Amino acid sequence: MKPDLEQIIKAMTLEEKAALSIGADFWSTTPIERLGVPEVICSDGPHGVRRMTDPHSSEGKSLPATAFPTASCAASTWNQDLIEREGEALGEECNAFGIDVLLGPGVCMKRSPLCGRNFEYFSEDPFLAGKLAASWIKGLQRKGTGASIKHYAVNNQEFHRMFVDAQLDERTLREIYLTAFEIAVKEAHPWTVMCSYNRVNGAYASENHKLLTEILKDEWGFEGFVVSDWGAVHDRVAALKAGLDLEMPGSQPARMREIVAAVKDGSLDEAVLDEAVRRILRIAFKSKEKRKNKSYSQVEHHALAREIASEGIVLLKNAGILPFKGVKSVAVIGRTALKPFFEGGGSSNVKPSEIDIPMDALEEVAPQVSFTQVQGYPENREEQPNLIKEAVAAAKAADVALLMLALPQWDESEGYDRPDLNLTAHQISLIKAVAKAQPKTVVVINSGAPMAMCDWIDAVPAVLQAGMFGQGGASPLADILFGRLNPSGKLAETYPIKLEDTPAFLNWPGENGVVRYGEGLFIGYRYYDAKKMPVQFPFGHGLSYTTFVYGEPKLSKQSMKADDTLTVSIDVTNTGKMAGKEAVQLYVHPLQSKLARPVKELKGFAKLSLEPGETKTAEIKLSRRAFAYYHPAHKDWVVDDGKFELLIGASSVDIRARAEVTVVENKKLSLPLHKESTLRDWYANPKGKPIIEAFMAKVAATQLPTEAKPESEREPIEIFMNLMIPDMPLRDVLQFMKPDPKHSAQEVLEGMLARVKK
Ligand code: BGC
Repeated sequence: MKPDLEQIIKAMTLEEKAALSIGADFWSTTPIERLGVPEVICSDGPHGVRRMTDPHSSEGKSLPATAFPTASCAASTWNQDLIEREGEALGEECNAFGIDVLLGPGVCMKRSPLCGRNFEYFSEDPFLAGKLAASWIKGLQRKGTGASIKHYAVNNQEFHRMFVDAQLDERTLREIYLTAFEIAVKEAHPWTVMCSYNRVNGAYASENHKLLTEILKDEWGFEGFVVSDWGAVHDRVAALKAGLDLEMPGSQPARMREIVAAVKDGSLDEAVLDEAVRRILRIAFKSKEKRKNKSYSQVEHHALAREIASEGIVLLKNAGILPFKGVKSVAVIGRTALKPFFEGGGSSNVKPSEIDIPMDALEEVAPQVSFTQVQGYPENREEQPNLIKEAVAAAKAADVALLMLALPQWDESEGYDRPDLNLTAHQISLIKAVAKAQPKTVVVINSGAPMAMCDWIDAVPAVLQAGMFGQGGASPLADILFGRLNPSGKLAETYPIKLEDTPAFLNWPGENGVVRYGEGLFIGYRYYDAKKMPVQFPFGHGLSYTTFVYGEPKLSKQSMKADDTLTVSIDVTNTGKMAGKEAVQLYVHPLQSKLARPVKELKGFAKLSLEPGETKTAEIKLSRRAFAYYHPAHKDWVVDDGKFELLIGASSVDIRARAEVTVVENKKLSLPLHKESTLRDWYANPKGKPIIEAFMAKVAATQLPTEAKPESEREPIEIFMNLMIPDMPLRDVLQFMKPDPKHSAQEVLEGMLARVKK
């Protein structure tokens, strides 16, 4: 029988309500035994369950669990099914560990490749991040564990993350920084949303009524509870009023007293507290609803971790050297061959249940090959020439050299950002020296974010981004190197040539507690596209050992009402000799727009698995939002009537097919006219148009230059006026013209505005 939440709320004392809205301890909410209200136990994710020995305490060690590839690597799979299966597996482990809410996924945008936590986030693209997050959440919650999508919102750096004020315009907020949350909330209904530490346009995320209540709850219909990031609440009562339901961690007796006092003195409406309580109760009971498995197959989960890595590893460059063929000896250089670098630092750090070692995997895949392993570089940033000497000798003596590189362990972590995009100075010297001694050198990088490669990439014939590939990443890596597996990972973020090229470079990481998002909508490929700038590797890039040929796209309609759905189908054929997978990407390029828009934006993707010679059809559906942008004046998503080009390709720059569709908006929106509306605004407004036309015909025709005159006959002053006038407010035009001797310009304008309102 479903508990009657309203009865429970009625029966609760004020103190019990206040206690429920603040954690009982580090990880759990306050149970109320006399009313049968269970606790909700949380644990860190997102790519593994970090269950502490005591699930109520932050002390002690974490128990072993499957360490899946981090979000940065998982996103490179572009495979929603795989991510959903990861969610399910995590859900099973949560059940076994007695966890009700897993703190993930992380969907913050990769505004700059420097952000220390980028490895925990999916992408620089909100659509890709939102879709993958939705799959993850659906899988997890299917098993009876809730997700806590984080960190809401505009949390894109670690520097001063506890207080920095992220300042951005409304369009950028909506189109870039909220979209992934919006997709996941609407499609997958996460049980909880975790607010971030930072401020957004002046107000802490934890006290941000616009973000928590107006947008998340009222506009998107979020029904779960909002939990604070651990320690993100400053003023508990203000946070409650803004829509922050649960403060974590607890316990905090003083805070509870503040809530009770505020209700008693009337400064906090008890209904506000009741609403927070209602939301927490809903999830608390829900978390105990499903019969939960108490065990899971570690072997199967390890295999799944491997499978995700097998599609998350990205072959960035290959000048014909991979896969290794007829190779008899390999010099394996780098400590990560023995001690894999598979996850980042901070709260998402999981103790793996087991771990595959790259050296072992290589020897298993290629038993006929003789492998020599040397350290190559130290654990830290020191330069040790002797290690380089040793590596060069090993590389010279072998048929090929395999350089396995990762930054010092704590360089990629929660809590701080990277200072630059470089490998260590020692590692760069190592690559150069080894490549000189052995032209057949393959570089494998394990990192959670892009590295600058311009200093050394031309010296080596192949580079693989193996990512933070989780506990099972070693075997797929070995399989890819020796051709047992065809790489299919594609970058979910752009790899810039150098730090100075990156969109946020001039506004990073802010100062005096403020960071301005000056690049606006233009992050990631949106920036490089707009500036026509070369990059090291574009968004969506990843090589294969086979070749794919794209056919002609078919559209379910050539022209559509914006509220319809368009289906785009395209055949893809594997024309090579090896089975492979291809992530087909669809970008929308608006051919007209009233406001500035990115050149193109990802609006659909599909991953196909193809045997040699096989053809399959990728089917991608596009609905209104694929064509829309957020109009701050309308406070809504709008579509400008007209043509849109659909670009279908193997990466954001490798476009293989194009088609055009005409989209017509159903409801016509027009901006209200006001005292500062320009002539252009008047003409664009259906009610204003006849009024301004009549005015022009009668009064202005005698005074203003007319566009009817051919340009060659116009005086320079007329050309100048023609350029200037349309964007001048009508108010100012009237000032200059004095159209009516009996009335002031202001009176004439007010008369015209009154007629519009009629
Ligand atoms: C992190 C969250 C994490 C929480 C609990 C915070 O510092 O920002 O991502 O879930 O701690 O460990």
